[in-house]
Amino acid sequence: MLELVHLSRRFGETLAVDDANLRIEAGEMTGVIGRSGAGKSTLLRLINRLIEPTEGSILADGVNVTRLRGRALREWRARTAMIFQQFNLVNRLDVLTNVLIGGLVRVPAPRMLLRLFTDSERMRAVALLDRLGLLDVAMNRADELSGGQQQRVAIARALMQNPTMLLADEPIASLDPSNAKLVMDALADLNQHDGITVVCNLHTLDMARVYCRRIIGMAAGRIVFDGPPDTLTESALLAIYNETDGAVDERISRLTPKSSTQPILARL
Ligand SMILES: Nc1ncnc2c1ncn2[C@@H]1O[C@H](COP(=O)(O)OP(=O)(O)OP(=O)(O)O)[C@@H](O)[C@H]1O
Ligand SMILES: [Mg+2]
Repeated sequence: MLELVHLSRRFGETLAVDDANLRIEAGEMTGVIGRSGAGKSTLLRLINRLIEPTEGSILADGVNVTRLRGRALREWRARTAMIFQQFNLVNRLDVLTNVLIGGLVRVPAPRMLLRLFTDSERMRAVALLDRLGLLDVAMNRADELSGGQQQRVAIARALMQNPTMLLADEPIASLDPSNAKLVMDALADLNQHDGITVVCNLHTLDMARVYCRRIIGMAAGRIVFDGPPDTLTESALLAIYNETDGAVDERISRLTPKSSTQPILARL
C-alpha cells in the first residue's frame, strides 16, 4: 500500500502538487486526470522520486520512501517503473536490446557499460516481448516500429525491472485510437493478471472511464476528485477542469446546460 501524506512540490511560485493525501492499494488501476499544468506528471515523478517533495512524505507499506538513499532508492525506482508519452527508447538499438536495458537498473556498472546480458535475462526479455505481441519485431531497430509498438516495447522494458507498480505518464497521448487501445489493454492485462498496480495519467476522460476503477482528478496542484468513474458527476468534472482560466469557464458554462459532459470534455 502506497500512502501520500501532505505531499507538496513547489517550483518557484507554482505549487505543482499542493497537499496531496492519497492511499493507493496494491493491485489498483487508477487514472489521474486534469488539465494541462494540473500537476499530474509532478505527482507521478514524486512517487518515483525523480523529483523531491518540498513537504510531506510517501510511505510504501509503512516505509518512508522520501528518506531512501543510494541502493535503497535505486531499488524503489526499479519497483515503481515509469512509462512516458514519448516512449524514450534508444532508436538505433534493436527492440530486444532496448528491453534488456530495462533489467540493468539492478546490475553493477561494469556489466552495464559492456552491455553483457545473461541467458536468463535474454529469455526473460524474449518472453516479455512475446507476451506483448512483439516477438516478430524483436530484432528490428526501435525506430522502425509504430508508436503503439514502441510504447509496448517501453512497457516490456519497464517489466524487466520487476516492478510492483507502473507509473504511466500519458502513455497514449501520442497514439492513434487503435494503438492507444492496444497499450491500455496491455496495462490492464498486467494489472489484472500480474497484480501490478497501475497509476496512469490520461488526457482523455473516456479512456480513464473504461480502464480505471478509480479516478483521481487534479486541478491547480490539488486533488479535487477521488472516486469510481460512475461518481464523476458534472459538478465533479467542473471542479477538475474549471480552473481560473476565464475562457474555459465560459465555454463550460455555455456547454453545461446541454446535459452531456462529453461535448465539454471534447473541447478542453
Ligand atoms: N521542472 C519544473 N520547473 C518549473 N516548473 C515546473 C516543473 N515541472 C512542472 N512545473 C510546473 O508545475 C505545474 C504542474 O506541472 P505538471 O507537468 O505536473 O502538470 P501536468 O498535469 O502533467 O500537465 P500536462 O497535462 O501538460 O502534462 C505547471 O505549472 C508546470 O509549469
Ligand atoms: Mg504531464
